Amino acid sequence: MQFFSSESINSINQSITHSILDHAQVMLDIKREDQIHKHVSGNKFRKLKYNLAKARALGYDAIVTFGGAYSNHIAATAAAGKIVGLKTIGIIRGDELEKNLDKTLSENDTLQFANTQQMQLKFVSREIYRNKTTAAFLDSLKTEFGSFYLIPEGGTNDLAIKGCEEILSAQDSEYDIVCCAVGTGGTISGIINSSFSHQKIIGFPALKGDFLVKEISRFTSKTNWELVQDYHFGGYGKINHELIEFINMFKEQQQIALDPVYTAKMLFGIFDRIQKGVFPKNTRILAVHTGGLQGIAGMNKKLMKKKLPPITI
Ligand SMILES: Cc1ncc(COP(=O)(O)O)c(C=O)c1O
Repeated sequence: MQFFSSESINSINQSITHSILDHAQVMLDIKREDQIHKHVSGNKFRKLKYNLAKARALGYDAIVTFGGAYSNHIAATAAAGKIVGLKTIGIIRGDELEKNLDKTLSENDTLQFANTQQMQLKFVSREIYRNKTTAAFLDSLKTEFGSFYLIPEGGTNDLAIKGCEEILSAQDSEYDIVCCAVGTGGTISGIINSSFSHQKIIGFPALKGDFLVKEISRFTSKTNWELVQDYHFGGYGKINHELIEFINMFKEQQQIALDPVYTAKMLFGIFDRIQKGVFPKNTRILAVHTGGLQGIAGMNKKLMKKKLPPITI
């Protein structure tokens, strides 16, 4: 339980050196939230912290949550549940995965990991999965599993946002811009809430869609933020040769691994915008590394099938 203690964890800000930054006279640091824990890293730690504390305070002994077959949230919840002694049940999208479970687990690193953390996996069809927030479906889960504490897909709820408000600390007031990858919008909402008034928070969505502005506005009343929609690379989980090259180059030059679904798209976007002269001279940028590195192995298997080069781990 020590790991999820009430003390707030401040991750380090690592300075990046690169000729593109020198040329633009812009400073870039990366907040290494990915280093918080091997399995419960980045925004997952932040989102789970207060949810797990509440589950325990209310006397629950099980957590139910939802995700796709490569979900960072599923992997992290499985590990976190094991750490704090809560049973975890993962409702996974895609009932075809259950047909040959041994094969699925041997081929899918995320689900195999969740399984080793003793998460109970329940596979449902895409159609049923779409009903995941309905009372009827949740009641059927209660009948099947008994009472449980519910954490939504992607882990975003009010307590997750409270946790994400701890990503920035007082010393981060020195930055002009804070950048963050966006999926459900929970992480950026927390960052916006705890940002300083002179700062601008820029979100880089990893997926297509206009719904995010509305979603984020539900969780924050501040207006010092914007979304840059140009770097989703065709949609959620989609990547191409150029992004793979960027990830591998970044790893080689900076010794920082990037996850292909979220943080790589954000950093690609930041560098592209710096190169295009979007940020004035002397701008100080902080990019939040939200973890997600567990997904690289699964992505590499997909890349191999598509005859694309692998991401170096
Ligand atoms: C590694 C990583 N970064 C960023 C995000 C985006 O977070 P959010 O869904 O809170 O917008 C996610 C998704 O949860 C993630 O797994």
